[in-house]
Amino acid sequence: MGRVVLLWVLLCGSAQAFAQSSEMMDRLAALEQDPVKREQAYAAAEERILLCSKCHGKDGNSKRDYIPNLAGQNPQYLFDAFEKYVDGQRTDFVMNQAAKLLTINERVNIAYYFSQQQVQLRPAAAALDKALVEKGAQRFAAVCITCHGQKAQGHDNFPRIAGQPREYLTHALQRYRDKDPSRADSPMLAVAALLSDEDVPALTAYLSQLQP
Ligand code: HEC
Ligand code: HEC
Repeated sequence: MGRVVLLWVLLCGSAQAFAQSSEMMDRLAALEQDPVKREQAYAAAEERILLCSKCHGKDGNSKRDYIPNLAGQNPQYLFDAFEKYVDGQRTDFVMNQAAKLLTINERVNIAYYFSQQQVQLRPAAAALDKALVEKGAQRFAAVCITCHGQKAQGHDNFPRIAGQPREYLTHALQRYRDKDPSRADSPMLAVAALLSDEDVPALTAYLSQLQP
């Protein structure tokens, strides 16, 4: 009996997430076909991101190296991240509260807005050790390409990780390796278990200098 109830709860939960995600895809598709709607979404987002821009930058290039860039990120991934912060599947003190303040419409507009911005590499990315970057490229090709794509650009709800600040990448990978509960259901937990202590600096060096 307990199992049936659990299954029911799981199905309803994922059905709701699925319905919101497909609603989001419909809205995004509508934006892509209609230049007027696109401009409206962009303008509405620009107004709504005043708070977000203090940390993530107005153009989605974050103000601090421990904060992720949102510029050039896949809109579906951004939208799903809001959902996860709202329902607690992903935890971060500021983001759990910030995401709750946004309506579904605002989440769509903001995801669209940031996906349209250009990632700017950090100055430190130019000075990275070439051999370390090359080692990272090899590890990326062996372990990460299947999900994150040839150039780490991601797709749909697989995030673009090219051009993220190195500090953010290091922190994210370390938390996956530590099985930190902040992203409890992530497929990255199994992936990170394959990485050695030497892999992390190599992968983060490679990814942080990769122009998306
Ligand atoms: C006080 C700083 C701060 C503010 C304000 C803030 N964020 Fe964040 N945001 C962060 C940090 C730090 C993270 C990384 C947290 C984590 O690891 O889950 C993050 C993560 C995110 C992510 C996930 C990105 C990824 O690569 O997985 C999204 C999307 C996001 N923020 C959007 C927003 C939006 C939209 C707003 C405004 C409503 C906002 N943030 C306001 C600091 C902030
Ligand atoms: C099985 C598919 C899969 C593989 C293989 C994979 N990833 Fe991921 N990765 C994901 C998914 C899905 C997410 C988003 C889930 C989440 O929020 O935790 C993610 C998230 C990430 C993030 C956090 C991005 C952000 O903006 O917060 C980093 C960093 C990352 N992956 C790096 C890597 C690296 C490096 C490798 C190779 C060593 C790799 N991934 C291999 C599926 C994969």
